[in-house]
Amino acid sequence: MKDEKTPDAAESERALIQGRLKDSTDTFVQEFTASVDFDKRLFEQDITNSIVQAKMLSETGVITQEEAGSMVKGLEKIREEVLRGEFNWRVDLEDVHMNIENRLTELIGEAGKKVHTGRSRNDQIATDLRLFLIVEIDQITSKIRQLLREIAKLAEENAATVMPGFTHLQVAQPITFGHHLMAWFSMLERDLGRLMDCKKRTSFSPMGSAALAGSTFHPDRDFSAEKMGFQGVCDNSLDAVSDRDFAIEFCSAAAITMTHFSRWCEELILWSSDQFDFVELPDRFCTGSSIMPQKKNPDVPELIRGKTGRTNGNLISLLTLMKSQPLAYNKDNQEDKEPLFDSVDTLSNCVDALNGLIPNIAAKPTNMRQAAESGFSTATDLADYLVKKGLPFRTAHDLVGRIVKRAITTNRRLDEMSISELSADTDLIGDDIYSVLTPEGSVASRDHHGGTAPQQVRNAIKEARDRLSL
Ligand code: ARG
Repeated sequence: MKDEKTPDAAESERALIQGRLKDSTDTFVQEFTASVDFDKRLFEQDITNSIVQAKMLSETGVITQEEAGSMVKGLEKIREEVLRGEFNWRVDLEDVHMNIENRLTELIGEAGKKVHTGRSRNDQIATDLRLFLIVEIDQITSKIRQLLREIAKLAEENAATVMPGFTHLQVAQPITFGHHLMAWFSMLERDLGRLMDCKKRTSFSPMGSAALAGSTFHPDRDFSAEKMGFQGVCDNSLDAVSDRDFAIEFCSAAAITMTHFSRWCEELILWSSDQFDFVELPDRFCTGSSIMPQKKNPDVPELIRGKTGRTNGNLISLLTLMKSQPLAYNKDNQEDKEPLFDSVDTLSNCVDALNGLIPNIAAKPTNMRQAAESGFSTATDLADYLVKKGLPFRTAHDLVGRIVKRAITTNRRLDEMSISELSADTDLIGDDIYSVLTPEGSVASRDHHGGTAPQQVRNAIKEARDRLSL
């Protein structure tokens, strides 16, 4: 951002905060300390905040109604200028607050100089940032609710689609694709809860805290908080201007959500490979290769997986930024914005991407079922069968281990063995074993809350939709 003012004019306005300083700030230092390049993103919140400040000052008799009226008009004009791209952002004015205040005075004269009565940029920025985050959380949570709806829909369509469940990425036991998708749903439902919790704690107004100790003008803090849509006011002025735990909390919720997304995306990448071939990803969400004409690369899930690095990094940035800061405000806190903005944007974009991707995933049930039959996936069912016939589990486990060993030597699945082969070491196995050994029999028998039986998956979807009013 280049300073378009003449050096003289810039110098005289910089005098706004020159205070006791004898020499004017070094040009390098001006640029080094400036935040306007990124905090101008908060112009809407800063203007709302100043409009409410003007009204509060007149309500409490600190300024006249006329002065407040002219401030409000000036601030609304500034909003128009910014929206039309006509506002001249100046680095020499350091940040969004001083740019707007300076412009207000240019527009309305002396009255503009009163808008900063009883406030500080310290309570201003803490308030602007909270206002910003509340709006962003609302937008992100509504997109997440859409994503939950899409997952539930795909899960319902696949409530009885059999696939292998994995542990250690080895076939473990048959599950249904619907059950797998509802595991994603559970993760995301908790993420939604974390974001909503974060909003609750963000929704308190720092205004009136001024620089750190409060204001001598007896601010009506409840008036300001209510007009800006906050739930209440921050209780302690030192804490209000200095802590950024609400931003850390958001970045933490974002990092956890993105970490979940990275797991789902990893699965989509594996499943869409020739080796698994469980799903087809929509062409629109894939790209080709510049050299290999046959390629269809899962770029979107790969990028989501990769972007998790940013959000995890942003969380560490903010934690480290806050660590060991003495009360109250320190300039360190200016560094909170870029990581927070980046986490907001990254999470929001990735939810958009998944909202486009998930409804267009085509399952390949035949391949999934075939894979579910591999790896002796129903060996546990055979052991459970023997337990139900009276064997202690450990004995049954041992016996089935020997059966599996024989199956491996003769290169067959368990259900391809005859009753007499299965019964070599026991007389407990009857004809009814074959229904137990199918993937369908296996999933159907896990018929309890949280289990993979198709009916349980349908129940889980119904309960989730009721619980979240989806
Ligand atoms: N740009 C500053 C920030 O983002 C605003 C607060 C500046 N306050 C101060 N005392 N220098 O934190």
